[in-house]
Amino acid sequence: MEPYRIIGAKDTSTRTIVTLSAQRILDQCEALARLSELDGGLTRVFLSREQQAANALVLGWMREAGMGARLDAIGNVVGRYEGDRPGLPCLMMGSHLDTVRDAGKYDGMLGVVTAIECVRALHARGKRLPFALEVVGFADEEGTRFNATLLGSRAVAGTFKGEVLDNVDKDGIPMREALRAFGLDPGRIGAAARRREDVLAYAELHIEQGPVLEAEGLPVGVVTAINGATRFAVEVGGMAGHAGTVPMRLRQDALAAAAECVLAIERRCAAEPELVGTVGKLECLPGAVNVVPGKVRFTIDIRAPRDPMRLAAVDDVLGEMRAIAARRGVQLNVTKTHEGGVAACAPWLMDQIGAAVAAEGIAVRELPSGAGHDGMAIIDLADIGMLFVRCEKGISHNPAEAITLADVETAARVWLRFIEQFDPSRKP
Ligand code: GLV
Ligand code: MN
Ligand code: MN
Repeated sequence: MEPYRIIGAKDTSTRTIVTLSAQRILDQCEALARLSELDGGLTRVFLSREQQAANALVLGWMREAGMGARLDAIGNVVGRYEGDRPGLPCLMMGSHLDTVRDAGKYDGMLGVVTAIECVRALHARGKRLPFALEVVGFADEEGTRFNATLLGSRAVAGTFKGEVLDNVDKDGIPMREALRAFGLDPGRIGAAARRREDVLAYAELHIEQGPVLEAEGLPVGVVTAINGATRFAVEVGGMAGHAGTVPMRLRQDALAAAAECVLAIERRCAAEPELVGTVGKLECLPGAVNVVPGKVRFTIDIRAPRDPMRLAAVDDVLGEMRAIAARRGVQLNVTKTHEGGVAACAPWLMDQIGAAVAAEGIAVRELPSGAGHDGMAIIDLADIGMLFVRCEKGISHNPAEAITLADVETAARVWLRFIEQFDPSRKP
């Protein structure tokens, strides 16, 4: 028995053209949210047991929806729905199945399950399109575990850098070993790469993770570009010492130096309205009440909608940190862990996503993405387009992330319409 409410949408001749269940989409997000290393919260990182379980669930949903489904060489889940004949190039859709620590339930997962739901609706009608559809649940977008991001989508784009295989997680486990433990061969990651001629375009549905759509009373929006980002891992080396005996003027306090760096980053990035800079992780060693901190490790994430703006801020921040370190007599070791320029969505895809929004009677709002997405990597393989879905108060990377059933219904209808009317011949 079908336990879900079925959404009917009308085309211009008023025939029902859609059979989708927003409730199933939300239920599947809930089911994925239960696969967490945290009790009572959501954390699911690359190559974890929880990811193994999430993959199994999504593979099952893909098959039920009428797709052939497999795990690729880096642990992405890949579903394929053939077009009106086998072997046609595909419209690739998807998002990520990994999360940040203490995450929301929709960042990433909503895009994967909504795409599967759209394929399910087509399959239920026995409808084939003049191109194949693929849905990818990327294994790592957030970069939570190994200080390297977009690993799943880079592998698909053929830009995965082998040197990150030596990165270690917080327990000292190298990525190379974690891949083996997951049942994957680190020497075969290249096999996940796709050929340009097999992918017509990449389209991703994602929650907005910002407040613009809510403020304007709109359920969905069309993304224009994904802001560029630079990330660093920083180590400040001072001198550990006795908190009771080392006079203040003789200290090389790594934490006090790091604190000054954090404030310098905040000051520089607050100087331009579209620029953002974050220190999201900081570790103080040895970490005792009566020891002057000898070593501090922290991360930096700087983003902007224009590359020159971001690069200038990065230069300034690094210069200022070097000056702080010199003045305080501490060592500074800075490693770049990520660099991605602005990824512009392709106008021909924006037009087609926008047409699907307009056909649902919704004003077409175009907006940039401050958050990063798999499209930043896939753009090296294919043109990219994105649809944003309103989320409550713009809250994301937070367990309070929330969306409404009504918005999921609307977004799924728009997405199915976009898929059915997708015209690859409009690519310039
Ligand atoms: C991913 O969500 C990011 O923007 O860091
Ligand atoms: Mn995220
Ligand atoms: Mn995301």
